[in-house]
Amino acid sequence: MCGIVGVLGTHEVAPILVESLRRLEYRGYDSAGIATVNEGRLDRRRAVGKLVNLSDLLVHEPLAGKSGIGHTRWATHGAPSEVNAHPHKAGPVAVVHNGIIENYKALRDELRAMGAAFETETDTETVALLTQYYIAEGLNRVEAAEKTLSRLEGAFALVFLFDGEDDLLIAARKGSPLAIGHGDGEVYVGSDAIALAPLTDKITYLEEGDRAILTRGSVDIRDAEGRRANRPAKTVSIDAARVDKSGYKHFMAKEIWEQPTVLANALDAYLDGDRIDLPEGLDFAQSERLTLVACGTAYFACLTAKYWFETLAGLPVETDIASEFRYREPPIPAATTALFVSQSGETADTLAALRYCRDKADRILSVVNVAESSIARESDLALPIHAGVEIGVASTKAFTCQLNVLYLLALKAAVDRGRMSPDALAAALAELRGLPGLFNAALDRDPTIAEAARAVAETRDVLFLGRGLMYPLAHEGALKLKEISYIHAEAYASGELKHGPIALIDKSVPVVVMAPKDALFDKTVSNMQEVMARGGQVLLITDAAGAEAAGGDVWKTVILPEAAPQLTPLLYALPAQLLAYHAAVAKGTDVDQPRNLAKSVTVE
Ligand code: M6R
Repeated sequence: MCGIVGVLGTHEVAPILVESLRRLEYRGYDSAGIATVNEGRLDRRRAVGKLVNLSDLLVHEPLAGKSGIGHTRWATHGAPSEVNAHPHKAGPVAVVHNGIIENYKALRDELRAMGAAFETETDTETVALLTQYYIAEGLNRVEAAEKTLSRLEGAFALVFLFDGEDDLLIAARKGSPLAIGHGDGEVYVGSDAIALAPLTDKITYLEEGDRAILTRGSVDIRDAEGRRANRPAKTVSIDAARVDKSGYKHFMAKEIWEQPTVLANALDAYLDGDRIDLPEGLDFAQSERLTLVACGTAYFACLTAKYWFETLAGLPVETDIASEFRYREPPIPAATTALFVSQSGETADTLAALRYCRDKADRILSVVNVAESSIARESDLALPIHAGVEIGVASTKAFTCQLNVLYLLALKAAVDRGRMSPDALAAALAELRGLPGLFNAALDRDPTIAEAARAVAETRDVLFLGRGLMYPLAHEGALKLKEISYIHAEAYASGELKHGPIALIDKSVPVVVMAPKDALFDKTVSNMQEVMARGGQVLLITDAAGAEAAGGDVWKTVILPEAAPQLTPLLYALPAQLLAYHAAVAKGTDVDQPRNLAKSVTVE
């Protein structure tokens, strides 16, 4: 989604804005721009495509000034083009925006009736034009921005910069996050703390409905009712150094390969000897039902957790995609625990689903990677996954860390509900502690996976099959492959094959079968035989016993170490990620910022 930065600085601001935008690149974007005020004069530069295009433009057409705003745009209204790129400017006002102004058509009609001329196809331009109009009517800058904000419907984070004012920024948050950074005689604003990390670690997060009037010497925050709001400044731990590739070619590669260490750290945070160290009061003994809601990869983590909660804890689980859940008005019986999973903690649909459950569910839990996110803050209890900053748009280490926390919760529920003895819990935790070592062994299979991926990169369609715990993972494998390599990939439960998808099988369609040698393995082998009998090329991801039992007809086999059955979704995620990664590299796609995708989806 769009990224926003703003700086009231003491040095030339253009390079600072561009560097901050670079740190927001991970969110996904298609154009970028900055505006500055220099000697009272507001000016801007914008370019389509990667940030390097904006940097090149600034070499030829520099922008001076010590105050400014910047933006990376992920198009919602109007194609990616220079004219649609932010900042949008109308007379003395420039604005950058993340979100959607839902009533922009009505505002456009109103503005058109007043004689306004439109240059862009965006919803954001109405914000600049409306503010310009109110200034022309005689309101001062702050009043004009205030009045404009009161007219807007939808979700937005907005920052205003004004001609003639090199010590004023106005920031507003409704639905989309915004952070204020405090420096030494400087003040900053950004979509998240990562953007501001080299500038400051002192951050104030705006709350829903807040507006902030910023000067170099003051931060004046008002709540939705216009009352002065005291929002604390926190020291955040995102240090500048962690947001680099550490020698890897892509962030995604770094994030895949650091999973053994990341998981070990995440386990340290949650395990205390033979105990799971979870907050007091978190008890599933009386829970009658669990509702798990998320989007994308986080949803597949929920789908996996359903198997764990139901089999280990005997707790009925409903899972849903947040964008469906929020609008189908599901009944939420009392004694329901609602749990929301989100890496960013800002996904608009997941947040809306959480709010739907607010007064209905017994309690609201969340599993997040960003502790200060909206979803975390609006939950009764937020459990961090401790994955560290994830930059690659394709979620990798966040997925395995989400699974880790969900598995620990399922174990806790099993104990609370009298379905797991202390000894059985100790044994399960010992297996879990061994998982980082198994991750390393799985990563050692990289050359075999890379070779298979180069062949997969030549194809147009791929099927993923799995049963039981491997079924959600089949979905995750297909999502990973399609989002970064643009190869069409579908996932099915192996048992569903002959109910339709088998019609797709021929020798041009690789079929990735994820099947450890577990209780369901023989059934999956039967499905594999059905594929091979029709010329299908099977890439089997299994363990040594599975490889032996499967026989020699498969196209390629990736042999993983043997793992406890409940832990196979975490382990088998790694070859799925590597397969997608190498296929994307072979195709030469933009691995970390795949086309059309955003890291943090803050619009519906
Ligand atoms: O930040 P969230 O976990 O809420 O994001 C949910 C999805 O947008 C996300 O998992 C998406 O599917 C990823 N690109 C998958 O790799």
